[in-house]
Amino acid sequence: MDRLRAVLGEAQARGFLGAAPLDEHVEHARGFVDALGAAVFAGAAVVDLGSGGGLPGLIVADEVPDARVQLLDGSAVRSAFLRWAVEVLGWDARVSVLGARAEEVGRRAAMRSSADIVVARGFASPGATAECAAPMLRVGGWLVVSDPPGGGAAAGRWPVEGCRSVGLVPERHLCAPRAYTVLQQVAPCPDRYPRRVGIPAKRPLF
Ligand SMILES: C[S@@+](CC[C@H](N)C(=O)[O-])C[C@H]1O[C@@H](n2cnc3c(N)ncnc32)[C@H](O)[C@@H]1O
Repeated sequence: MDRLRAVLGEAQARGFLGAAPLDEHVEHARGFVDALGAAVFAGAAVVDLGSGGGLPGLIVADEVPDARVQLLDGSAVRSAFLRWAVEVLGWDARVSVLGARAEEVGRRAAMRSSADIVVARGFASPGATAECAAPMLRVGGWLVVSDPPGGGAAAGRWPVEGCRSVGLVPERHLCAPRAYTVLQQVAPCPDRYPRRVGIPAKRPLF
């Protein structure tokens, strides 16, 4: 954990992680594992959508050593940092970096329906997050997303019909001590998603 904290401190120094105390970031990232349960993450193929400075993906990798984690980020600077972090941590065998836009990755045949779990913290609006995550998820897989503190409006943020349009169903909203929504991929994401780069954020499905 010391080495991981040093890496996260470096992410913060470079402005890839918010200014809150590192412990808060780490606890928030651990909440993704707790939201589904560590047993579901065991051995899973996990994609961290918009990993930035490495959260929550690096914490998932730390907590669940047999998970195979892909840290995805469209920023060349951030993905270079993530590659450095994986090397420093010696996790190359089980953690990899996808330096590309999620809309492009979601159209790659090898990535389609390939993930057991997608996690997303601060990636995009709910509609854009669902559209970018669903194409990568196998049927039966899970999307875990953090919601704003309190989580009171989570049901409104994740409308059932909107989620269903990409094959997802909201399973539960957790609000204390931190807010997350857990969705399950119950049907394959239609081939027309994700739309072109930038369109999910510009014209969100919901
Ligand atoms: C607000 S940061 C959150 C970073 C990290 N998950 C965290 O919680 O600290 C959002 C990240 O998503 C990445 N991002 C945004 N849209 C993207 C897209 N369409 N494809 C790939 N990465 C994207 C950005 O480059 C940025 O690093």
